[in-house]
Amino acid sequence: MPSSETLYHIGFGRDDLGAPLPTLALLSGDPDRARHIAERYLTDVRKLSENRGLNSYVGRLPNGQAVLSATSGMGAPSLSIVVNELVQVGIRTIIRVGTCGSIQPHIKPGSVVITSAALCRQGAANDIAPIEYPAAADPFLTVTLAQAARAQGVEHYVGITASVDTFYEGQERTGSANPHLLRALRGVTEEYRRLNVLNYEMESGTLFKMGGVYGFAAGCVCGVIAQRTEGENVVLETKATAVENAIRVAVEAAALWLARQSA
Ligand code: URA
Repeated sequence: MPSSETLYHIGFGRDDLGAPLPTLALLSGDPDRARHIAERYLTDVRKLSENRGLNSYVGRLPNGQAVLSATSGMGAPSLSIVVNELVQVGIRTIIRVGTCGSIQPHIKPGSVVITSAALCRQGAANDIAPIEYPAAADPFLTVTLAQAARAQGVEHYVGITASVDTFYEGQERTGSANPHLLRALRGVTEEYRRLNVLNYEMESGTLFKMGGVYGFAAGCVCGVIAQRTEGENVVLETKATAVENAIRVAVEAAALWLARQSA
């Protein structure tokens, strides 16, 4: 149900969005990325809120279509709150613009992964749908993301993502403050690699289940910033390229998607 009141967490309401009303949100985990997208890729930008670091901006794509650049925060619980409120203000398409760790040797840092479906190991999602409920991206939006990547000349891979709740334990990182990795998680990365899972990230599974339940189109593109077949750390040298590639793909896909909707 659309709400004109200020939503508690995102800090704005439908009446703040102006005209034409945006129906698509580019959703970054990182508030600085949301601001960067707004400043670098949109025109006529207006800050809606920077409440709790959930930075949100409204602006226009180069072809004049209105979009939001918003922030999910890290992880599925935060994302679930933001997405619920974005839908309340009228958003009907959400493209997550994230980062991820590759678990396939041929998917290198700097490239992007477009998630077609997620292996969803996330507690927040279980509050929204049964555990067996498919965490599937909107198929048409996923194709649009792949077309955008091709148009932008960005190296990309489309497939299954492991979407988990923790960056360290859940992604089998042993070189952190917790030396006690649960038996159930030891070897999980190699198992997923053999199951043709492409990457790890922390939000798409819950986003996709919400899309299915609420009835909005959800997609996800992530820049590859770690290569887990080689190490645990983020590869800082190529991080900026990976993030910019994911943004370029998401922005182009948003333009294609909205143009097709209005055709
Ligand atoms: N985000 C993740 O969840 N994992 C990584 O390795 C990198 C980014």
